[in-house]
Amino acid sequence: MRELSVVGGGVIGLSIAWRAAVRGHRVTVFDPDPGRGASWLAGGMLAPVTEAWPGEEDVLALGEASLRRWPDFARDLAEEGVDPGLSPHGTLVVALDSADAGNLEMLAAYLAELGRDVEQLTGREVRRAEPGISGSVRSGLLVPGDLAVDNRRLLRALKHAGDKHAVGFRHETVTGFEDLEGDVVLAAGAWTGRLHPALADAVRPLKGEILRLRPRRGCLPPPRRTVRAMVEGRPLYLVPRDDGELVLGATQYEAGFDETVAARGVRELLEGAERVLPGIAEYELVEIAAGLRAASVDTMPFIGELGEGVFAATGHHRNGLLMAPVTADAALAWLDGEPLPDEIAAAAPARLSGRFSKERM
Ligand code: GLY
Repeated sequence: MRELSVVGGGVIGLSIAWRAAVRGHRVTVFDPDPGRGASWLAGGMLAPVTEAWPGEEDVLALGEASLRRWPDFARDLAEEGVDPGLSPHGTLVVALDSADAGNLEMLAAYLAELGRDVEQLTGREVRRAEPGISGSVRSGLLVPGDLAVDNRRLLRALKHAGDKHAVGFRHETVTGFEDLEGDVVLAAGAWTGRLHPALADAVRPLKGEILRLRPRRGCLPPPRRTVRAMVEGRPLYLVPRDDGELVLGATQYEAGFDETVAARGVRELLEGAERVLPGIAEYELVEIAAGLRAASVDTMPFIGELGEGVFAATGHHRNGLLMAPVTADAALAWLDGEPLPDEIAAAAPARLSGRFSKERM
């Protein structure tokens, strides 16, 4: 049995803490407010294919490696007592104009070339699949394998599982390593760059506004699948929850550590969403918020040893929830002295070579 300090109680830190505690390690999570932060605000998309971008094949491969683990991860968590709410419905990407339709065709060709399961739909087929979608949507791409999870149920499930296996929680902000016992996992999201010199310029905050809405009486119900679109060049997603809520995200821009909600962000999201799903204008707006993704210099996370006894699990960019299972597997392998999964090779912090020594700090 080993002593493990996990810095950060978001989805990555809590997943590692739970899995490590199950294996019998003594685990403490350091976070002033565990289960909140960016993970609390996430849309919950587990969507490597519809997040794919030509040139970022490593990110796609790592995302898919983690998505393959999600059903077991969700089942194991549910067996601990709280079901994290993995949705089996796929993802639908829609095109609003001819430029979007062209981009979607290119994306479909690229994904088909990579052997991914995608289906091109006409506008009519899109509306047959999701009746609330606007009549001006021209075409769509159905990706059945891109799933979603209810991020807040997931966080509750992880905390419950952690408590059950005696994970300790210290509600404090870690600024140095002096108080940390044993091996250390750095999973403090956008703040991780402040914890280790190797990560100082490699992980940064990437702000996003995100909204939650709920259909009022008489409104058209939300879509069943996740619906994504580009509106005026900005990506937008609508992720339905089992309880009827609809998550609408997300803006994406550099604003340092500012977590205030900008009116412009809310306006862009609502205007964009109304073009995709006109009925949303009548929904009740139940939450507006802004959070900080842990952006990485090259959009790949940093998963691996930074120095003796220190493991990085950060920089997951737009993919923290998706990549939690594979990150936890890697951290556990490291902790137990086993070989790390081959799938995380491209996420090794060694690509920052020259930035860090074998020293702990
Ligand atoms: N995963 C979607 C986002 O970061 O907005």
